[in-house]
Amino acid sequence: MTLLHDYQKGTAYGRKAMPAKDPHWRRSVAPQKSYAAAGAEVVTLARPARLPASDLWSALRARRSIRAFATEPMTQESLFLLLWAAQGISQPGPWPFRTAPSAGALYPVETYVAASHVAGLAPGLYHWELPEERLALVAPRADVATAACAACLGQEMVAAAPVTFIWSAVWGRAGQKYGDRALRYAYLDAGHLAENLHLAATALGLGACMIGAFLDDEMDGLVGIDGHEESVIYAACVGSPGVATASVHV
Ligand SMILES: Cc1cc2nc3c(=O)[nH]c(=O)nc-3n(C[C@H](O)[C@H](O)[C@H](O)COP(=O)(O)O)c2cc1C
Repeated sequence: MTLLHDYQKGTAYGRKAMPAKDPHWRRSVAPQKSYAAAGAEVVTLARPARLPASDLWSALRARRSIRAFATEPMTQESLFLLLWAAQGISQPGPWPFRTAPSAGALYPVETYVAASHVAGLAPGLYHWELPEERLALVAPRADVATAACAACLGQEMVAAAPVTFIWSAVWGRAGQKYGDRALRYAYLDAGHLAENLHLAATALGLGACMIGAFLDDEMDGLVGIDGHEESVIYAACVGSPGVATASVHV
């Protein structure tokens, strides 16, 4: 594991090796992508009138990785709540703060949705647009679930789930401040928002499974990113729990 140890050591802070703070540092990479600004069709999901009541402690106890899904579609309200739990705006303002913490509030992680079976939503690949909290259609695609399944090494739960969330990191957004240490922070950020989503799914009576095992090139290709400036780093499939036929543990 040479790379791992070299990276951990090479990006370590130490009393004798702290990077000098640049007094002129300014944010130069946009805090979020917008496909809508580039002309993509926008979808405003139906929202619940208010956030549902839930018991955090029960959700923590009940959360489990679920890998079998029923055939029923996901409601737009559930999809909205899941997206909001992962990356909603909880404090609007000139620099909006979100439901999950982020190193330096730089928010390097983007959320994409491979939606194959959501009520009233055409199947396709969507991007979660912030701060508007709406979706932009990146690519209409009837086979989005099977394409995502193939990119996730054929894990069948991805083909069966109505929705798979795909998270990418825009490296320069955190790298502009943290240099190579940004890799650590982007993955930590993704972990925070993914767990928010997992607990929200549990609270809604849905099942979810995190996905770290995927073909990087194929996932980047599915989302339409270059894998260099922006790379897929994590995913999760979500749906109503079904009867398990097979389970995959990675
Ligand atoms: C970073 C990460 C990557 C994971 N990747 C996969 C995956 O690709 N496929 C899968 O079936 N489960 C995946 N899991 C789920 C784990 O297998 C699961 O969390 C673990 O077995 C513990 O079970 P629990 O989540 O029910 O507590 C992943 C979990 C994490 C945290």
